Amino acid sequence: MQKNTSLNKAVFPVAGLGTRFLPATKAQPKEMLPVVDKPLIQYAVEEAYAAGIRHMIFVTGRNKRAIEDHFDTAYELETELEAAQKLALLALVRSVQPKDMDCSYVRQPRSLGLGHAVLCAEHLVGNEPFAVLLADDLMVGPPGGQPVLAQMAAQFETLQQSLIAVQEVPLAHTRRYGIVAGKAVDGMNERLMKVNAMVEKPAPEVAPSRMGVAGRYILTPDVFKHIRNQPTGVGGEIQLTDGIAGLMSEQAVYAFQYEGKRYDCGSKEGFLEATVELALQHPEVGAHFRDYLAKLKLG
Ligand code: UTP
Repeated sequence: MQKNTSLNKAVFPVAGLGTRFLPATKAQPKEMLPVVDKPLIQYAVEEAYAAGIRHMIFVTGRNKRAIEDHFDTAYELETELEAAQKLALLALVRSVQPKDMDCSYVRQPRSLGLGHAVLCAEHLVGNEPFAVLLADDLMVGPPGGQPVLAQMAAQFETLQQSLIAVQEVPLAHTRRYGIVAGKAVDGMNERLMKVNAMVEKPAPEVAPSRMGVAGRYILTPDVFKHIRNQPTGVGGEIQLTDGIAGLMSEQAVYAFQYEGKRYDCGSKEGFLEATVELALQHPEVGAHFRDYLAKLKLG
């Protein structure tokens, strides 16, 4: 790959079935569940935009049309708001799709796994590095600091190699994550590790470390051939983790311990935690919600 290629594209795999959130996800995408007043997918798209990315690629499936509608012009709604002079709301609706942002959509015909979903975007990504954001991992940067993908994009500028976001997880939870092991590299940012092992959802006894993969990646396009060449992995799916493990045989892959917080909004507990914490910080409802919680008698 050429030196100093910048990051222009992000892939959002949104074709999963969302079974952990049934029945809410029976007829609507998990990624459209709102945390306070914004759907999960919009948080992820805003994070990519803040990292300088302007081409958003969604890998969708059945029942996901609401996502396309969300990032399209809402002609009737905008006309009504304009006529009623509700200009603040009009600006809010229009801000969902900034003018300099492009969206593309591709279908994953069956939920064959995250690796397969990323492969469905290959022809739209082409031969350039790209980010992958899993919208059900809602990432919040540190107070006053950069959002997580922007932190990673800054590292990528100098590294020009693949990067995976990681966080330390409890040993008992390794089965929920891709787990990486690696070592620090002299002279590099102390949050970076060069990865030498990567395993999908290992049992605690065999986990190579406690560094769990969070849903943010920056990958070189060489990963596609390694995903394609993988046999079916854990759970009968084509795993992105296995594709990245293949990529490591050819080029360096780094793990980046981001600053900030991850909420697993694909699970009910994580979704509730995100809702409470983001509601407390919300400029419109935060103060009222804080009073409400303070008065709540927890039995
Ligand atoms: P999950 O492991 O959370 O799977 O996928 P899921 O189907 O969405 O949810 P559960 O486990 O059944 O509740 C992680 C991410 O990968 C996407 C999902 O949309 C989610 O963003 N994905 C997963 C795909 O796009 N295609 C797939 O085949 C699998």
